[in-house]
Amino acid sequence: MDLSIIVPTFNEGPNVDELLRRIGETLEGRVFEVIFVDDSSDDTPAVIAAAAERAGFPVRLIHRDVPTAGLGGAVVEGFRVATSRWCLVMDGDLQHPPEDIPRLIERAERGDVEVVIASRYASGGTSKGLADATRTAVSRASTALTKAMFPRKLAGCTDPMTGFFLLDTDAVDLDALRPRGFKILLEILARRQLRLDEVPFDFAQRYAGQSKATFTQGIRFLTQLAMLRFGRMSAFALVGGVGAIANLIIMWGLIRLGVDYVPAAIAASVITIITNFFLLEYLVFADMRSESGRMRARFVKSFTFNGLEAIIRIPVLSILVEGVHIPAVLAAALTLIAAFVLRFMFHALVVYA
Ligand code: GDD
Ligand code: MN
Repeated sequence: MDLSIIVPTFNEGPNVDELLRRIGETLEGRVFEVIFVDDSSDDTPAVIAAAAERAGFPVRLIHRDVPTAGLGGAVVEGFRVATSRWCLVMDGDLQHPPEDIPRLIERAERGDVEVVIASRYASGGTSKGLADATRTAVSRASTALTKAMFPRKLAGCTDPMTGFFLLDTDAVDLDALRPRGFKILLEILARRQLRLDEVPFDFAQRYAGQSKATFTQGIRFLTQLAMLRFGRMSAFALVGGVGAIANLIIMWGLIRLGVDYVPAAIAASVITIITNFFLLEYLVFADMRSESGRMRARFVKSFTFNGLEAIIRIPVLSILVEGVHIPAVLAAALTLIAAFVLRFMFHALVVYA
């Protein structure tokens, strides 16, 4: 298989020589090219140009004077100019060890896949190179949320946010991609169902320099998710909103009939939890029902989760108000948002797994 290796770079000068040395060593005897798609504001293009002279294989440099769509846009640009139909995408800071490339190629050569994903979270892989505990937690949580939003397309993929993968570009409609920010693989996988497989790898420490990930990148990622998955989640939100209004109307009616407010609230909650379940069953997750076991089991899970959530939310609310001193209404809003996200994740990942 001929191979184009696409490396997006933003101010990665000190990593270039080492990266090319290790790629050359590992792929000795194979036919391949390396394409740097560079948006640097420093001397990285000159460093790449000099290194290209010394490398014993083709090294191309595309410097974008007007960077568009960041890392993701750079990768798509690389796909467009690649000589080979199979493109390997990897970071330029050696967090993706070049020594793992042959395992990706071997998997692709065995056939029946359109993308081979190097995963930190498949068994045998690690994410030790993530700078700190916070970053690891954020990565884990956003991976879980993403998988909850695309249960089908991401089935069998443990690491949709990885930047290390081997893709058959013929299987992808490049014009349909809307890259924004860092998560280009997610963009590709969410657009079209691809035949995929994974190989585990150890996400390494950066060789030189600093990560370009920022808080803004995090927001971009959330926008990307919302855009890609406007469908299911907004339907889920709509059902939840209708349920909340129904809950209040039922409670009001029972109180008018002379019922005390506590049993009225409990009865209203039970009724809305049950009707919500059927709305989810027939509207929101209709396409996933046939593959997720018996309805009774789903009902028990859904009912238990929603019941526990209703019970737990109140003490959490009082901790936020009394302990952390957040204004009551803001605290209530925060708990409702958190409850909504958790409820959605639980239903997509567990109830309709
Ligand atoms: N061309 C271009 N344009 N390249 C960029 C840009 C950009 O705007 N921003 C970053 N890059 C390049 C970097 O130079 C590096 O080669 C690669 O993209 C990854 O950037 P890092 O700054 O090293 O990001 P990271 O290590 O925090 O994140 C990586 O790992 C994540 C998993 O934890 C990326 O691969 C993410 O996509 C991945 O989700
Ligand atoms: Mn990195």
